[in-house]
Amino acid sequence: MFSPSLLGGDFSRAGEELMEIASSGADAAHFDVMDGSFVPEITFGAKFIEDLRPLSDIVFDVHLMISEPERHIQRFARAGANIITVHAEATKHLWRTLSMIKEEGLDAGVAINPGTPVSFIEPVLPIADYVLVMTVNPGWGGQRFIPYCQEKISELDERRKETGNEYLIGADGGIGASNAAELFSKGLDLAVMGSAFFAEEDKAAFIRTLEDSIL
Ligand code: DX5
Ligand code: ZN
Repeated sequence: MFSPSLLGGDFSRAGEELMEIASSGADAAHFDVMDGSFVPEITFGAKFIEDLRPLSDIVFDVHLMISEPERHIQRFARAGANIITVHAEATKHLWRTLSMIKEEGLDAGVAINPGTPVSFIEPVLPIADYVLVMTVNPGWGGQRFIPYCQEKISELDERRKETGNEYLIGADGGIGASNAAELFSKGLDLAVMGSAFFAEEDKAAFIRTLEDSIL
């Protein structure tokens, strides 16, 4: 599965770009929310998502790179998110925050930075619907993939086989045609892509080619 990120596009054309994601055959649209605190950049808040929601019924995959995400779950849920992913490093109350997302009826994701080990989130894996392995340092699109991070995909895949936990595994940052297939062979379920997706003229052909490469 693929979740292209609007961050790789042009925000002045956000509506059209969301429609391009939806018509490309991608499985979800990824929204990168940054607060200038957890990460240096600031992008957008819940209103941006709310205003785009009527344009498409594609899955809205909202990646909160914000401090104390528990303060904003209800607002993003009601703006139309389907998946909300919070960073394990951004809250002292990870279990509670994931529970709040689930109580809103959404899928709850937990993201880990390149410097955070899988063991840090082990206690919440039984309630996580989704684990997002950051394969760059969060905060900017267009960075280079950090190879070490792919070991965490294998580790998460092994752990779910051992434990029976049912989370999906995602990866975010520096992913494109050159490395996607290898990540899926390690157990990846969903790849987030910003710059690689928006660099393509024919986005539907790009998604089709990637999907064929992981069969
Ligand atoms: C990085 C964001 C990513 C970003 C990925 O902080 O979480 O979702 O959009 O962009 P690329 O694919 O260009 O690395
Ligand atoms: Zn992201």
